[in-house]
Amino acid sequence: MDFLELVTATRACRRFKESEGLPEGTLDWLVNCARLASCAGNAQALRYAVAESKEACAAVFPALKWAAMLKDWDGPAEGERPTGYIVIIGETGKRANLNAIDSGIAAQTIQLAAQSRDIGCCIFLSFNHDQIREVLGIPAEYEPLLVLALGKQKEVRVVEEARDGNLVYWRDEQAVHHVPKLSLDTVRLIKK
Ligand SMILES: Cc1cc2nc3c(=O)[nH]c(=O)nc-3n(C[C@H](O)[C@H](O)[C@H](O)COP(=O)(O)O)c2cc1C
Repeated sequence: MDFLELVTATRACRRFKESEGLPEGTLDWLVNCARLASCAGNAQALRYAVAESKEACAAVFPALKWAAMLKDWDGPAEGERPTGYIVIIGETGKRANLNAIDSGIAAQTIQLAAQSRDIGCCIFLSFNHDQIREVLGIPAEYEPLLVLALGKQKEVRVVEEARDGNLVYWRDEQAVHHVPKLSLDTVRLIKK
């Protein structure tokens, strides 16, 4: 697959084929991809917590805040929930700005890697930090930075060109998720 096709397919996924689960070893493979991603000063300051058992996944799920723009949707119903989670963690109170950048790069690396295997992913910045810390047993010296929810993708997501600057993602009658993106001419501000 051409890389542009992969990036185009790599849309946030919020509904999964829960009964299918993830192939054995998937979460470790994804963390391994993130481990090799570029990071500031090659400091490799990020660490990862993974949840793959049914019990752990059930405990992580209520801590997440789903799709703020879909006002009458509270998140995936039973049967459509993620079957694995990766939490990116950093040392508490250290390298805040750099960890924010590094964790974004790691998250996108994981999301792209997942999509290359038809696994859907949604990145979460909005989540209950105390709950995540508690259910995964993250020690006080570390803090959760981002949560990634993963599973076999069920939701169909499509990119569309943003019209009149409207960037609100939306769902149609067939439950297809639409994501408006600005055009190349809009974002490429300068060309010399
Ligand atoms: C840093 C970051 C934080 C995000 N946090 C959340 C979140 O808390 N809850 C959620 O449902 N989606 C979250 N998302 C997913 C975004 O809503 C999604 O990426 C955006 O709507 C664009 O859709 P796309 O990823 O398909 O391009 C987050 C994405 C990023 C990159």
